[in-house]
Amino acid sequence: MDRNFALEFVRVTESAALESARLMGRGDEKAADHAAVEAMRSMLNSIQFDGTVAIGEGERDEAPMLYIGEKVGRGEGPKLDLALDPLEGTTICARGGNNSLAVIAIAEEGQFLHAPDTYMQKIAVGQDAKGVIDLLASPTENLKNIARAKKCHVDDLTVVILDRPRHSDLIAEVRRAGARIWLIGDGDVSAAIATCKRDSGVDVLMGSGGAPEGVIAAAALRCMGGDFQGQLQFRNNVERERAKKMGIHHLERVYGISELAAGNVMFCATGVTQGTFLDGVRFFSGGASTHSVVMRSESGTVRFIHADHHFDRKPRY
Ligand code: FBP
Repeated sequence: MDRNFALEFVRVTESAALESARLMGRGDEKAADHAAVEAMRSMLNSIQFDGTVAIGEGERDEAPMLYIGEKVGRGEGPKLDLALDPLEGTTICARGGNNSLAVIAIAEEGQFLHAPDTYMQKIAVGQDAKGVIDLLASPTENLKNIARAKKCHVDDLTVVILDRPRHSDLIAEVRRAGARIWLIGDGDVSAAIATCKRDSGVDVLMGSGGAPEGVIAAAALRCMGGDFQGQLQFRNNVERERAKKMGIHHLERVYGISELAAGNVMFCATGVTQGTFLDGVRFFSGGASTHSVVMRSESGTVRFIHADHHFDRKPRY
């Protein structure tokens, strides 16, 4: 995969972030998401590549744009698969909260797990706890192993968990184990990435969230050297059947990071609202600034890009 593609794709996330950031705090999740999707799609279609959406806004019948299987790009050039979320954290953006992102991960054809739109049990850690996590072990066991790897005590660790009733047992166990907890309203992709940022104050992500977001987070952590495991969680038989149709036959399987996002992976994200990892979009007279990250698993290079956009020369914003 040509490394120069990374810069092409950061324009895509910048564009989605600029469009959705205009709608920050308006209380209209759908409008913010729609703005991000339209911008992302039109920018993707300006790039010279033969792309297919592997993780997108949903299946063809439920998503008018960027649905799973949709072809994007100008149709000539390398065949690439995309795992994207034009606005990760729609509620965050609609409420003006922290950590909503426009994200896209890119891999060669067939390298992303075709995760259905169900839940995924997840555990994510940064570089210094790579190799010690095990989704089949208890949260207590995992915390002990992570603390040992990080040469600290369990009560030094901060665990991010989505604030949901389904996590009440997990929260109780983490509290008993003695670790600190940061409950978040939404946005577990950003939380997974935060485990790899040394000064974020986040050590572990635990609990269940969207399966598509799990694949996207795995792609990011592949680039940053962190670790991630995921296990699909189905709410009913319809979801199980849908997974089988998408080629997943071992429904109980625990996926390692390289099974979720294999081969050479690139990852780009732009902050929509202010975040732990990326600043949000800021508008000023005649323009706006964006803060993005671009990274590649092959080199492990993590590049941050601050950009100033001038609307008189880019009238679409
Ligand atoms: P959206 O951007 O699709 O709204 O997802 C936000 C999010 O918080 C994800 O980060 C997370 O994986 C998922 O929703 C959790 O799902 P639920 O809100 O059903 O618990």
